[in-house]
Amino acid sequence: MRVNHQTVALITGASGGLGRATARLLADRGASLILLARGQEGLEGAKREVEARGGRALVVPTDVSRFEEVQAAADIGEREFGPIDLWINNAMVSMYSPFMRMTPEEFRRIVEVTFLGSVHGTRCALERMLPRDRGVIIQVGSALAFRSIPLQSAYCASKHALQGFIESIWTELLHEKSRVQVSMVNMPALNTTQFIWTRNNLPRRMKPVGPIYQPEVGARAILFAAEHRRREWMVGYSTVEATVGEKFIPRILDRYLAHQAWEGSMSTERADPQAPSNLWEPIARDLGAHGPFDQLAHEHSPQQWLNENRARLAQLLVPAVLLLAGWIRRRRHHRGPRYPADGNRSLLPRRSASSFSDRCGRRAWRAWHAST
Ligand SMILES: NC(=O)c1ccc[n+]([C@@H]2O[C@H](COP(=O)([O-])OP(=O)(O)OC[C@H]3O[C@@H](n4cnc5c(N)ncnc54)[C@H](OP(=O)(O)O)[C@@H]3O)[C@@H](O)[C@H]2O)c1
Repeated sequence: MRVNHQTVALITGASGGLGRATARLLADRGASLILLARGQEGLEGAKREVEARGGRALVVPTDVSRFEEVQAAADIGEREFGPIDLWINNAMVSMYSPFMRMTPEEFRRIVEVTFLGSVHGTRCALERMLPRDRGVIIQVGSALAFRSIPLQSAYCASKHALQGFIESIWTELLHEKSRVQVSMVNMPALNTTQFIWTRNNLPRRMKPVGPIYQPEVGARAILFAAEHRRREWMVGYSTVEATVGEKFIPRILDRYLAHQAWEGSMSTERADPQAPSNLWEPIARDLGAHGPFDQLAHEHSPQQWLNENRARLAQLLVPAVLLLAGWIRRRRHHRGPRYPADGNRSLLPRRSASSFSDRCGRRAWRAWHAST
């Protein structure tokens, strides 16, 4: 699909963070946006930004943990703008706390919003897209869907669950030969509002582990994923590292993260135990898209650039490798045989050019010649 002024897109969690940055980017293309979240102030702020950029926006305050609300929001959106082409499941809540210092209700709430909220979104999107046999669903995932860290057990569990859920959906869509596209876009740490409003049970303020990127990096990856059919995208080198590391050295990572992601997740600033959080209710303020780490956050991800351009790079690389191979062959051919013509070359080392292997080759040749 191509995102343009004819596109109707629905974004969950559009009042802040990555969802807000994505809304701005889609508005630059003139899309009509159905903006879902709970906080009226943040949603109205997002609507103003979208309209200032040439898009159309409809604000529908919704709690994604309630299926009927998501269903109703999609109906209102389609009545206003027409069929939804692009559905982005992005809303989340989390909590920074050791597992045993969370209540069962807090744990359940995070799973209901972060996991079930996306399940509800996927159901509503598929109900509309399957009969039309078209449409794109983007599921925002995380590096933490592959490798969990301490102090965010409910969030990590929800992201792992989403990965499993989407894998089932992929196979079902393939079985049904559906042309509806579902893509997972796994994000690295992003400088978003979550670092301002997420409930914190720790003595110090939280900071992201590893390199941090501006939410616009994630938003560009979402737009690219919507326009280029691929099963899954890993955004940022740290996301790739997490998945590969978990495959090959899980126990080493356990030990590393037990320290690094515990101490390393906390800044030196003391946390305010009275700070408002958005776990149960939204924050009644418009905070925009960015969190407090503008000084540290990267504006671009070279890994994402390579990822997006890998087909073009492969097109350049294949002729370059063939040219190099041809050049090496020609050089070897012009040099002529390196050992006497009557020698049995199959007995000699086959490597060329290195002076060490040359010396070994000559020695082996002399030894063989002397013995015959
Ligand atoms: N930031 C990171 O480091 C990072 C890393 C990897 C992946 N991600 C992923 O990126 C996505 C966005 O995260 P973010 O960092 O932008 O988070 P964020 O800044 O906390 O924004 C979360 C959004 O979800 C909304 N929301 C929360 N509870 C909701 C509910 N019950 N119903 C509807 N909307 C709700 C919030 O608005 P209201 O409170 O107004 O409802 C807000 O708009 C998530 O899927 C997250 O897993 C983020």
